[in-house]
Amino acid sequence: MMRLAVVQFRPALHAVHENLEFMVRTASDTDAHMIVFPELATSGYFFLSRDEVRVVAEPLTGPSITALRDVAERMDRVIVVGFPELDGDVVYNSAAIIVPGQEPRAYRKTHLFYKERHCFAEGNSGFFVVNIPRLDCNLGTMICYDWRFPEAARTLALRGADLIVCPSNLVTNVSHISMPSRALENKVYLAVANRTGTETRGDEELLFNGASAIYGFNGQRMAEADDHSDAVLITDIDPAATRKKSFNSINDIFADRRPEFYA
Ligand code: ACM
Repeated sequence: MMRLAVVQFRPALHAVHENLEFMVRTASDTDAHMIVFPELATSGYFFLSRDEVRVVAEPLTGPSITALRDVAERMDRVIVVGFPELDGDVVYNSAAIIVPGQEPRAYRKTHLFYKERHCFAEGNSGFFVVNIPRLDCNLGTMICYDWRFPEAARTLALRGADLIVCPSNLVTNVSHISMPSRALENKVYLAVANRTGTETRGDEELLFNGASAIYGFNGQRMAEADDHSDAVLITDIDPAATRKKSFNSINDIFADRRPEFYA
């Protein structure tokens, strides 16, 4: 069993220092084995250009991820956090996967949403799974709009994920319709760390919908936040319980697949 925490809060645009301070404090104070923060949680979301986002972007070895890595090592906690990742002069919408005793890895968002296309490069990391022996957990990561593509969760599950985490900045409120299905059809836990609040640029306002949630591998909602408050959701999960994909004496949701008939 492991204790999973999802943090919902309201990152401020451009305010890396304040956002990081909140996350370092929350990661230190939250008694869980794994803590998941939202998409672009160090920087805020609604950037308009590559030049603008480059000012707050950092490499995986930069000060923000290093500060969270220090907490992860000191408290023996896994931390997943969205941040604008600088690689050379290219910026990705990434999530750092920080595991004590391992080098951090970056998942780079595969499917860019709306004006992210003006600010970020399309992710090139692909979908990968991180094995965490101490928690007996295989962790897969996708980011926000990736949820609209069932291939994202499916690929992670076929690669062995027990738990998929989804740092998010959701601006629609339909993901809760499909997230339980992603969990159920892949028999995985799924944790959505969304943000709240609004960001306004010129005459355009984005409203972020909160409602962060943790789903069990049968699609059941194990914990859910409201649509506007800061929240820390905590749930005990059993990653190993996802690995047997049969649900009766004959059927197995992975062994029964017929990929030769899929487009
Ligand atoms: C989103 O992908 N941030 C909606």
